[in-house]
Amino acid sequence: MITVVGSLNYDLVTYTDKVPDAGETFQANTFENHLGGKGLNESLACARLSKDSATKVRTVGNVGADTFGKELKQALVDAGIDTQYVATLEGYSSGVAVILVETSGENRILYTPGANGQLKPTNEQYETYFADSSDGDFVVVQNEYPDTVKTIEWVKKHRPGVNIALNPSPFKPISPETLAKIDLLIVNEGEALEVGSQVFSGSDLDAFKATIASDETKGFGHLAEKLQTLLDQNNVSSVIITMGSKGSISTSKDAAEPVFTPSKKVTNVVDTTGAGDTFFGGVVSRLSGGATLSQAVEFATRASALAIQKKGAAEGIPTYKMVEEATF
Ligand code: RIB
Repeated sequence: MITVVGSLNYDLVTYTDKVPDAGETFQANTFENHLGGKGLNESLACARLSKDSATKVRTVGNVGADTFGKELKQALVDAGIDTQYVATLEGYSSGVAVILVETSGENRILYTPGANGQLKPTNEQYETYFADSSDGDFVVVQNEYPDTVKTIEWVKKHRPGVNIALNPSPFKPISPETLAKIDLLIVNEGEALEVGSQVFSGSDLDAFKATIASDETKGFGHLAEKLQTLLDQNNVSSVIITMGSKGSISTSKDAAEPVFTPSKKVTNVVDTTGAGDTFFGGVVSRLSGGATLSQAVEFATRASALAIQKKGAAEGIPTYKMVEEATF
């Protein structure tokens, strides 16, 4: 079972050759509505990228009582995801993200939480969500709802055998105590250094930065290794640092040394929105299916390479079969 706790957003996406400066008006190319929100994207990625229906996915989240909310929830239902804990809140709008995507595929996102901002489950609700959970299950969280730390604390205390997977995006400071409850941490380069600045001394952090400046892969490898020692050591205990178009570094409690996985070369990048969520879902779905960390990262790298060739965060997420059949 994979439980994703998080946001569901309606993405309002403008595709443009250029992002205007302050006070400037610039004519864009196209405008499209897409489904998104890190929680929804991660849920769909976990479901679509699972090998078979043995892996169950459920989403915990909120939508507003509007047409956006109906569409968002229906997309999860259509993917076979359990939506009994996706609430429709009267008096709130669904979360919305205003996104600018440049011709290079790079995105800029302005997120308004709406109903996601009310996602603050009580202890009784957590009891209900995780009543049927087993050791080895996963819970997937990010920072697009207000109570990420409470989710982490509740699960670690009451379901210690469930793997807690965190992508701390959008970034919020994380304490050493919270980090010690995480089982799988997925961060980009900037987030890795931000987490490092919360938990290492200034001189240790400077040493990582100096190594990164001379050899990025080696420096982020050292940082990943050190962060891994600060996680919970009982479950999958793994760290992945994503390095954009370069690839990623991963390590776990069982790894002899960090592994660099290069990204796949893609010539027609159209929209990178949601690529990180696809990667995250790919890793969790494969780990949940029994793969090793290296196998899971390789699979997720292929999945996100497919995702960036399609417009839309949720719509771009491929299926397990598409990843298996990809020629790179
Ligand atoms: O990670 C991509 C997502 O971030 C988008 O779908 C958007 O909704 C924002 O939440």
